[in-house]
Amino acid sequence: MRKILITGGAGFIGSHTAVELWNSGLEPIILDDLSNSSAGVIDSLEEITGKRFAFYQGDCNDRSLLEKISGEHEITGVIHFAAFKAVGESTAFPLKYYKNNVGSLLVLLDWMKEKNIKDLVFSSSCTVYGQPEVLPVTEATPRQEAESPYGNTKKICEDILVDFVKSKPGIRVISLRYFNPVGAHPSSKIGELPLGTPNNLVPFITQTAAGIRKKLTVFGDDYPTPDGSCIRDYIHVVDLADAHLRAISYLKNQAMDFYDVFNVGTGRGNSVLEVIQAFEKVSGEKLNFEIGPRRPGDVIQVWADTTKINQVLGWYPKFSLEDSMRDSWNWQKTL
Ligand SMILES: NC(=O)c1ccc[n+]([C@@H]2O[C@H](COP(=O)([O-])OP(=O)(O)OC[C@H]3O[C@@H](n4cnc5c(N)ncnc54)[C@H](O)[C@@H]3O)[C@@H](O)[C@H]2O)c1
Repeated sequence: MRKILITGGAGFIGSHTAVELWNSGLEPIILDDLSNSSAGVIDSLEEITGKRFAFYQGDCNDRSLLEKISGEHEITGVIHFAAFKAVGESTAFPLKYYKNNVGSLLVLLDWMKEKNIKDLVFSSSCTVYGQPEVLPVTEATPRQEAESPYGNTKKICEDILVDFVKSKPGIRVISLRYFNPVGAHPSSKIGELPLGTPNNLVPFITQTAAGIRKKLTVFGDDYPTPDGSCIRDYIHVVDLADAHLRAISYLKNQAMDFYDVFNVGTGRGNSVLEVIQAFEKVSGEKLNFEIGPRRPGDVIQVWADTTKINQVLGWYPKFSLEDSMRDSWNWQKTL
C-alpha cells in the first residue's frame, strides 16, 4: 500500500483527504502539531474508516521529526496542508505566517529530495487571483499582488515550487488552488473546527443558527452583482478531498520534474444571500442576519473555470451547495 504523508492531516481539508485516500487503497500517515485541530480527529478518522492511522504530533518545520517518519515508513508522496490560514492574523503577525507557511515548505522539499520522495500536492488558494478582470478564472489568469501576508505565502510557495522543479530535483508537483471549501463529512464525524470567531461565512452561519453567535452580518449588499452581495465558488470538502486523491495518483504517471496547477471549484458562483437561502431551506432554520457595510479587502466576485481539472484529472464535483449546507449543519449539531 502506497504511504502518503499528510501534513496538517488533523485539520479540516486534510482529515477529509485522509478518508478519501484510505477508501482508494492509499495509506495516510498524519503529521500535525494540533495548532488548529484536536487529537480527537484521529479517533474520528478511525470511526469512519476502521483504521487507526499513524499519527505524529509535531511541527513539519522540524526536520528531525521528518527523518523519524521516513525512518519508520516508506513515504512515496506528500500532501502538504499544514499552514496557518487566518488572513487578519497574518496582517498582524506576518513573520509567524512566513515562517510557518513558507518555512515548512522549504524543510519539506529539502527532506523529500534527500529521501527520494517524488510526489507532492500543495494547498494553494484562489486568493492568488485577487479580483480578476475576467470571470471565470482559468489557471492562466494572471495572479495579482496579494492582499495579505497569508495570500502572499501561497504565491511565494507556488513560486518556490516552480523554481525547485526547474532545478531538476527528481520531483513531481501539483498545486491545487482551492476556491471556498465548505461542508463536512456526511457521517458528521469530522468537519471544520474554527477556533474563536470564524473568518469564513459557513461556520458563521451554522454557529449563528445554533445560537453561539447572535447575528450574522452580510458585508455589503450594494456590490455590482445580481443581488448586491459578494459571490464565491463554494466547494464541498469531500469533493475537494477527492481532487487530492486524483492529483497524487496522476503524479505517479508523470515524468520527473513535473509541475502543474489546477483550480478546484464547482465552476459556479453563489452569492452570500444565496448561501443563506440554501442554508435556511435545508435546515428549516430562520437565520438572524443583517446587512452591514462592505468589509475592506473583500473581492467582489470570483469563481473557477474547472475545464482543466475536469479534462486532465477527470475530476468533477458531486455535491451541491444544498448538500454542503446540510452537511455543515449536521456537523454543527454534533458539535
Ligand atoms: N479552508 C480554506 O478556506 C482554504 C482555502 C484555500 C487554501 N487553504 C489551505 O488549505 C490548507 C488546509 O486548510 P484547512 O482549512 O484544512 O486548515 P486547518 O487549519 O483546518 O488545517 C491545517 C492543519 O495544519 C496544522 N498545522 C499548521 N501548521 C503546522 C505545522 N507547522 N506543522 C504541523 N501541522 C501544522 C494545524 O494544526 C491544522 O490541523 C492550508 O494550507 C490552507 O492555507 C484553505
